[in-house]
Amino acid sequence: MEKITINITVNGKQYEKEIPPRRLLSDFLRHDLGLTGTHVGCEHGVCGMCTVLIDGQSARSCLNFAVMHDGASIETVESLGTPTNMHPLQEGFWAKHGLQCGFCTPAMLMVSKELLDSNPDPSREEIKEAISANLCRCTGYQTILDSVEAAVNQTKEEVTA
Ligand code: FES
Ligand code: FES
Repeated sequence: MEKITINITVNGKQYEKEIPPRRLLSDFLRHDLGLTGTHVGCEHGVCGMCTVLIDGQSARSCLNFAVMHDGASIETVESLGTPTNMHPLQEGFWAKHGLQCGFCTPAMLMVSKELLDSNPDPSREEIKEAISANLCRCTGYQTILDSVEAAVNQTKEEVTA
């Protein structure tokens, strides 16, 4: 099958890859780059589990072919932090029990990051709106909202310290 070469930046690292034109962005991230933090649920654009940021905007990677994003910059959950140096959002989810099985968590973190990048002090309603396209089977959403609020408060404290 014909392959296409793309140049793409993922989590700040540049890649040049030859891939089939119909390779989904979600499969490209998970299988070609080994970034399995991006989860795949429905593969039909419904659940939101596969959400990543493409040039700073959230998008469902299961609905995009990787070749559509030649030259783009992608952020996945792996860009956020490490176990010893967590992003405030990860700290918030840790502290407020924002996850149970964790399957929805990478996508929840990425839509929350998109929100905080443009609005560092969102209201609870604005957080609700931001995560509303992502499904969670476990938490009932309240602890996710608490987690994002905790990240907002921590960031505010750091700024004023
Ligand atoms: S896997 Fe469900 S929206 Fe992409
Ligand atoms: S924590 Fe299990 S789906 Fe959200």
